[in-house]
Amino acid sequence: MNKLENARDYIKQNKDRVNPAYRPEYHAAAEIGWINDPNGFCYFNGEYHLFYQYYPYASQWGPMHWGHIKSKDLVKWEQLPVALAPDMYYDASGCFSGSAIEVDGKLYLMYTGHIDPDPGNPVNIRQIQNIAVSEDGINFEKIAENPVIGTKDLPEHALVQDFRDPKVFRRGDEFYTVVGSRHVDGSGQILLYKSENLIDWSYLGVLARSKNKFGKMWECPDLFEIDDTSVLIMSPQFLQNDGDKYCNIHSGVYLLGNCNLENCSFDCNTVDEIDGGFDFYAPQTLLDENGRHVMIAWMQMWDRTLPTNVKKHGWAGAMTLPREIKIVNGKLHQIPVEEIKQYRINQISYNNIMVEDFLSLEGIEGQKIELELTIDSQEAVKFGLRLLMDESNATVMYFDRKEGKFIFDRSKNGEDLGGVETNESKMGIRKTAVELWDNKLKLRIFIDRCSVEIFIQDGERAMTSTVYPSDTATNIEFFSDKQIIIEELNKWEIKL
Ligand code: FRU
Repeated sequence: MNKLENARDYIKQNKDRVNPAYRPEYHAAAEIGWINDPNGFCYFNGEYHLFYQYYPYASQWGPMHWGHIKSKDLVKWEQLPVALAPDMYYDASGCFSGSAIEVDGKLYLMYTGHIDPDPGNPVNIRQIQNIAVSEDGINFEKIAENPVIGTKDLPEHALVQDFRDPKVFRRGDEFYTVVGSRHVDGSGQILLYKSENLIDWSYLGVLARSKNKFGKMWECPDLFEIDDTSVLIMSPQFLQNDGDKYCNIHSGVYLLGNCNLENCSFDCNTVDEIDGGFDFYAPQTLLDENGRHVMIAWMQMWDRTLPTNVKKHGWAGAMTLPREIKIVNGKLHQIPVEEIKQYRINQISYNNIMVEDFLSLEGIEGQKIELELTIDSQEAVKFGLRLLMDESNATVMYFDRKEGKFIFDRSKNGEDLGGVETNESKMGIRKTAVELWDNKLKLRIFIDRCSVEIFIQDGERAMTSTVYPSDTATNIEFFSDKQIIIEELNKWEIKL
């Protein structure tokens, strides 16, 4: 059996052996095995398609395949057969990240072939760009012309070992692709290529460069326009933390500015971290037929202890909620796609609830829920919520007026989620600067068994993290050092 059939067959035979204890209800995940980056996120023939970095055979990273799901509404996903397996000389050690584009009714995937002939000796690694095409959006054929961008197409200053994650897009009649690269000085850069047919590519230049000031290798670039602003998204490895920002080993970052493709220039005026939580990496966006830019990311971070792997549950990793992104007051805002509201059930609401010290409310609890609330903070200095709580677990979040920050604390979340990050003081804690509006704090919180996503002040900031509480940890408690009023509180279960 060939590698693709083998993977498809293995999934069929083994998917029922996955331990469902921590499985999410409404986040995209694979049926079995390991996933990382979202790939090929696109709108094709009236449906959303999402591919992802995939190793079906273990709950750890291995030679990469492309898993595949599709959806009519970005929330309820249908599992499809594995789309790509590492079965050619030009992708022998893995089909690494990439993107998708529709042309004349066919779906094209552009991805990185990873070749590592002598594992343990990275000098011999090569990364090159390939195309696979499909008529039905399910079965893909790698084209005879592969690789379409090879080692010979690299400028001299780019390392042949680190050249990956093409994001292809169209402007007028031309195709462009941005590709993550590493300069010979070790720092990250984004290379730009152009083509008329997706097969013959010419190198245009370096669109953006770190010059060793902003992390190392820049992975997973994405470039698009919102209104008149150019947005460049990428995932720099080993970006040094800057106060509360970039505290994870690798980061998801956006740049706003003005991009000129013909001059290969990106004049940047804003740089920021996309998400202030623990687990958000390698985001990718699509533009749908309604003109929405929707972003999804891997809801995990590299090199962390993963309870579903340690406990041999047979799966690891999920995607974030898809978020519509907008630019508001010169910043990127994120709001979960509207469609998630269709899956809200059993609403419980409260109005004008006074909290002093702490308070639980009848019916406000659960592990697969959405909470929406507006708090009038009055004169409180520290106020917030504890959720996923029982005697030994609590995931805590609060606003601290003295610091002007929203603080997320998963140190009592249930399991060891340690990583290679070494800053002790930040181990279980992430902070993000937030301004109250008229002394008020607005939150939307999505809990899905092993994850918490927080959208603060209508999506001005987002914080996304995994947490692994025991299944009895369902309680929610509000707390404050002085009186606050929860003006509005809604809770829904989210059920697909
Ligand atoms: C990002 C990344 C990509 C690469 C893929 C391999 O998380 O390292 O750069 O293509 O994962 O799985």
